[in-house]
Amino acid sequence: MNMAKPKVIIETYGCQMNVADSELIQGILHEAGMEAATSLQEADVILLNTCAIREKAEARILGRLTNMLPYKRRKPSLKIGVVGCMAKHLGDEIIRRAPYVNFVVGPDNYRRLPEIIQETTTESQVLTNFIRDEFYDGITPRRPRGLCAWITIQRGCNYVCSYCIVPFVRGAERNIPAHEIIHEAKTLAEQGFSVITLLGQTVNSYRYEDWDFCKLLKAIAAIDAIEQIRFTSPHPLGFSDELIELIATEKKLAKFVHLPLQSASDAVLERMRRGYSFAQFKEIVQKLRALQADIAVSTDIIVGFSGESEEDYELTKKALIDLRFEFAFLFAYSERSLSIAARKFPDDVLPEVKQRRLAEIIQIQQNISKEAFNRWVGRAVPVLIEGFSTRDKNMAIGNTREFKTTIFPRENYNVGDWVEVQIEAATSLTLTGRATKRLKAAKFALEAEEAIDLGISLGPSPNDDEPEED
Ligand code: 5AD
Ligand code: SF4
Repeated sequence: MNMAKPKVIIETYGCQMNVADSELIQGILHEAGMEAATSLQEADVILLNTCAIREKAEARILGRLTNMLPYKRRKPSLKIGVVGCMAKHLGDEIIRRAPYVNFVVGPDNYRRLPEIIQETTTESQVLTNFIRDEFYDGITPRRPRGLCAWITIQRGCNYVCSYCIVPFVRGAERNIPAHEIIHEAKTLAEQGFSVITLLGQTVNSYRYEDWDFCKLLKAIAAIDAIEQIRFTSPHPLGFSDELIELIATEKKLAKFVHLPLQSASDAVLERMRRGYSFAQFKEIVQKLRALQADIAVSTDIIVGFSGESEEDYELTKKALIDLRFEFAFLFAYSERSLSIAARKFPDDVLPEVKQRRLAEIIQIQQNISKEAFNRWVGRAVPVLIEGFSTRDKNMAIGNTREFKTTIFPRENYNVGDWVEVQIEAATSLTLTGRATKRLKAAKFALEAEEAIDLGISLGPSPNDDEPEED
């Protein structure tokens, strides 16, 4: 390996938080003089930034690690590192399963990566301790060029959802100082990033000195060059009337909320330790829709949690039908070691029952999503162009204020333009149509070629790798 300037490639799994963390890692490595590799062949270091949310996510990554072996055989100096949530969760176990892994580094230890990469030792290293006050201040993430940028406003999680591994792999909640977030948003706006997505495990619990989430949103909305603000994921607890009103009244806030329900049975919600009843959740959705008729609400659902009876499940199914979410990420419960449920509740719903319930609600939700998207056909809607299709550069891709991905012929429009699009057709995931006029020209001229790589900023993105559809 060229020790002076090793080339590093990062493969990212999991949620947006991990995507943002990969940008952070790239920032750290760049400062240490390392370069990004563009292919696995070229890389001196391969990092897998991993997820631990469900067993399947981990199984997939362990499988992927096996695929890395031939690269190591071809280039013995190649270093392979596993970082992120699964690194923290499995630690040494990863080395036992894949002895060719050089290092395992948890979410609080990224500052040490340059040093660990440069180490000449042949021993595998595991570094996964929590650092209570680590929020990576002073580090500038390396973001791909474009319109959309993530800003992590909170690391870790203070909630105690019994099914969840996150507090055990990401530690306690730490809120980034408000002035740093605002400074970052201003800097990004000056660089042409006009769509900002605020990230946190429970973003609406943000608190720093006399700042709360609403105050932070208002301060970011006051930055002139910022066109749109999105955030993910809020928790139904503490989803205040003030926040609901702000979403409806602040033009720059996306008219889209991803609000995880998990289950509509109060008995299950209680065992999940979610802290709200179904009626309370429903009230938030109703208030959002009362103030903003077109608002898009999406959710997360887990079926087959410990003790979920057929009646409990039917309540969740009915809630999906009644609440008509635009989109839902649907999961079968996967017991995670460390979680409260793994210690206290048996994983007692049979796998085939979980899968039957999951398959049924996937079908139901798909029809609801299709209908929800179809309702837009025939309307003329403002769309902010975020990039162009990689498959066909003559097609522009953008999002409506309601975060509906819209595809239409590019013509002479630019990335960053707000255009009016006449919607002609819909699937359960996208709208298609034709631009009729430019509503507002982009403030910055972004080269089309630079703006193509839209990554997962397109469309509603799961806070996870993929819904379990099989
Ligand atoms: N099993 C299945 N799904 C889970 N989620 C979190 N933990 C688990 C688990 N143990 C889902 C929740 C959460 C989303 C990110 O992943 O729905 O909102
Ligand atoms: Fe980590 Fe949770 Fe994100 Fe998975 S979903 S990468 S476990 S924070």
